[in-house]
Order: sequence, then structure tokens, then C-alpha cells
Amino acid sequence: MTALLTLDHLGVRFQSADGAAHSDLVESVSFALQPGERLGIIGESGSGKSLTALAILGLLAHPLVAHGHALLTTPSGEVDVVTASQRRLDGVRGSVVSAVFQEPLASLDPLMRIGKQLAWPLSHHRGLRGDALRRAVLDALVDVQLTNPERIARSYIHEISGGQRQRVAIALALAAEPRLLIADEPTTALDVTVQAGVLELLQREVEERGMTLIFVSHDLPVVAGITDRVLVLRGGRQIELADTTTLLTAPAATYTQTLVAASRQLDAFLPTIEGAS
Ligand SMILES: Nc1ncnc2c1ncn2[C@@H]1O[C@H](COP(=O)(O)OP(=O)(O)O)[C@@H](O)[C@H]1O
Ligand SMILES: [Mg+2]
Repeated sequence: MTALLTLDHLGVRFQSADGAAHSDLVESVSFALQPGERLGIIGESGSGKSLTALAILGLLAHPLVAHGHALLTTPSGEVDVVTASQRRLDGVRGSVVSAVFQEPLASLDPLMRIGKQLAWPLSHHRGLRGDALRRAVLDALVDVQLTNPERIARSYIHEISGGQRQRVAIALALAAEPRLLIADEPTTALDVTVQAGVLELLQREVEERGMTLIFVSHDLPVVAGITDRVLVLRGGRQIELADTTTLLTAPAATYTQTLVAASRQLDAFLPTIEGAS
């Protein structure tokens, strides 16, 4: 089977304008992701998770520069995101790879009604027009379990809640039917009460659509619940890559052992405080 995504010594460097100063923020990340596979990227804050995700999306901007290779298999051949032209990237984003970020406002336009924002990818990628397009917009909103889709479609982003916004951002990311979805801490900024619902929704969409997933989080139990394999980053370096069960039961790297032990302690601790309240 051909890998959908192959990272070959992918790195991200901070490069000052005159080229005099530089620092390596991500170094030499390598893995191959098969179609339908669900990979977690875990690491503490600042470990390079988001920069890795942005590099795969071709979304890094000066002074950040990617090096190495990030090869995406697309219907029109292989694209190296690191070196691809803007035009080639525009053709890949949305339909081949799409993303949901921690902050839904990162992908949503505050000045455009939600229905109109969804209509664009639906018409562009699926060629829908008129009534069929209107129906597809409402269907997309129903699909992410938003009730009263007509009202949501007419609303601006400031008129709905944080949980609803992230559902809209997910609908937008799915609109062009991407093969690979990158979710970067998609529930971290949400109220605890709505986190589980959004996570469940993501998991269901990935399963139903047979999508390939990269799920980025600092939260090991959340990552473990949704992925087949996990990549551990620390200080921009790849520490370990293992299937999820192995990582949880027999972590090889000392750092991963610490992460697993810490999340176990939390597990043991939580029932105690819940029981006490
Ligand atoms: N635009 C930027 N300019 C300089 N340094 C950055 C920039 N964005 C991120 N960094 C640094 O790169 C490192 C990795 O960041 P990031 O990938 O966002 O971490 P996280 O694992 O929390 O997602 C951090 O030390 C961060 O401070
Ligand atoms: Mg991040």
C-alpha cells in the first residue's frame, strides 16, 4: 500500500531576515502514514507539535522555514509540501489534507455568515450549485450535530457558542472531503462540558469517512483513545514512535515512561476527588 503521507527528516527552523540567526524548532521527524491510519502526536507545550502540523499543511510563514520532506500522495501524483508552489498547495489543501485547530476562530471568518463559509468549499470541490448547495450546507451542519441548522447557517461566528464554533470548524474542514485530517488540540480550548462531545464527533466522522487522522494533543489518555500509533515529541525531537498499545504498556524511551506514569497517576487520582465531591 502506498503511504498517504511520508515525513522524511522533516524539520522547522527559525531564520532571521538577514539569515544570520537561526534555531531548530523541530528536528528530523520521520514516519509514514498509511491510508486510514490514525496517528497521535504527543508532547508537552512547546515540543513542536503544532509546527510539525503546520509544516505538513504547508502553512509555515517567514521567519519559519521547513526542510526535509513531507510527501503527500494526491490523485494527481506525489507532492512534497516542503517545496511545493503556492498554487500546488492550494490544490492540495482542503481536498487532500485539511485541519481543525485549537482555536476555531483560526479557520473561521468573523465577517461572513456561517452558511456562506461552508458553501465555498462545497461548491468549489463538489461542484454543487443552487438548491443542492443550500441543502449540502444544512446537511453539513446537521452532520456535526448542530440543531437548528437554518439558524446556524444565517449566523455569524460571534453569535454561537465555543462548542458550536468548533463543530462548524469541523464541518468546514470536512466539506471538501479530505483524505487526511489534522486535528491540533481540537478540544483544548473548549469548556470541559463540551470536550467529550466534540471528541466523539471527530472520532465518528473519521471512522465513517475512513479518513486518515493526525491527532495532536498534550493529553496522553485522549490521544490513546483515538489513535493506532503515537509519535512522542520533546524539544522538537522525535523521541519515540510506537503503536498505541505498546506505547502505553511498554514504552521504550525514558521520557515516554514518565509521560505514561504521570497519566496513570492522574487516572488513579481523579476517581478519588470525584468521589469526594
Ligand atoms: N513563529 C514562531 N517564531 C519563533 N518561535 C516559534 C514560533 N512558533 C513557535 N515557536 C517555538 O517553537 C517551539 C515549538 O512550538 P509549537 O510547535 O507551537 O509547540 P506545541 O508542541 O506546544 O504545539 C516553541 O518553543 C515555540 O516557542
Ligand atoms: Mg500547539
